[in-house]
Amino acid sequence: MELDNLKPVSGKVKKITTHVLQEMKMKGEKISMLTAYDFSMARILDEAGIDMILVGDSASNVMAGHETTLPITLDQMIYHAASVIRGINNCLVVVDLPFGAYQGNSKTALESSIRIMKEAGGHAIKIEGGKEIIESVNRILSAGIPVMGHLGLTPQSIYKFGTYSVRAKEEEEAKRLIEDAKLLEEAGCFGVVLEKIPAKLAKQVAEELTIPVIGIGAGNGVDGQVLVVHDMLGITKEFSPRFLRRYASMYEEMLGAVKNYITDVKTEDFPNEKEQY
Ligand code: KIV
Repeated sequence: MELDNLKPVSGKVKKITTHVLQEMKMKGEKISMLTAYDFSMARILDEAGIDMILVGDSASNVMAGHETTLPITLDQMIYHAASVIRGINNCLVVVDLPFGAYQGNSKTALESSIRIMKEAGGHAIKIEGGKEIIESVNRILSAGIPVMGHLGLTPQSIYKFGTYSVRAKEEEEAKRLIEDAKLLEEAGCFGVVLEKIPAKLAKQVAEELTIPVIGIGAGNGVDGQVLVVHDMLGITKEFSPRFLRRYASMYEEMLGAVKNYITDVKTEDFPNEKEQY
C-alpha cells in the first residue's frame, strides 16, 4: 500500500494497519504514538491524526493512582481498551498485556491476548520482555494476533531492577537488548518499543531491525515516538523525566476552570437566566 494513498480524494483518512506502519518505516516517515485509556481522549488523538494509540498499563498510574503498573488487571485493561476502540476511526490500537496476564505460561498469554481482541476489539497487543517470553510471543502470533515487543526499561519488572533509571548503558546489557530485539523481529513482531535506553543504542537497533522501532526516552534515531498522554499534556505534575516534552499545562488549566466554576456557584453567578429553562 502506498503512503500517498493514506489520504484518498474523499478526504477520509485511511486506517492505519501494521502494514502501513511497515511502509512508513521503509519510507522514513516517523510514526506517532500516544497512550489513551478512555473514549473522549481517544477521539481527540484519532481526530488529530495519531498513527497508533497505546492502551498502556500506565493506566495503573495515571488513571488509578497506583505507584507502579503491577496492580492493573486484565479485566481493567479490557475496559479501558474497549472505551478507546469506541472513540477511534483510523489509528491502530495496541493494548498492553498487564502483569500477571502472560508470565505464567504461553497458554495463559494467548488466552489473555484473545480476550483483548474479542472483548475489547483491540488491534494488537504489547508484551514486555525478550528471550524469556518468546514462546508466548510465538503462540500469540500463531493465533493471528499482531504483537509489539517492549525492551529496555520494562516497568512491570520494577521490583527486580529497583529503579526507573536508564537501561542498557553497560555493554553486556546492550548486547542482550540487541539480541532480544532481533529475536522479537524473527518471531514476527510488527514493532518494538524501546524505553529509556541510550540514544546511540536505540538508533543502532532501529537501523538493524526492519520492523518499526518506537522510542520513549530513546532519542531521535528510532522510527517513531510514544509518550504517556497525561504527561505530554501536563495533566500529571510530579513526573518530569528529561525525555518528556510538555505540550500543554492542562493541570493548571483544569484547576483554574474548576476554581472559576466553584466561585460562580457560590456567588450564584451560575446558572444565569440564559442557562435555565
Ligand atoms: O504503559 C505504557 O504507557 C507504556 C509506554 C510507556 C510505552 O508501556
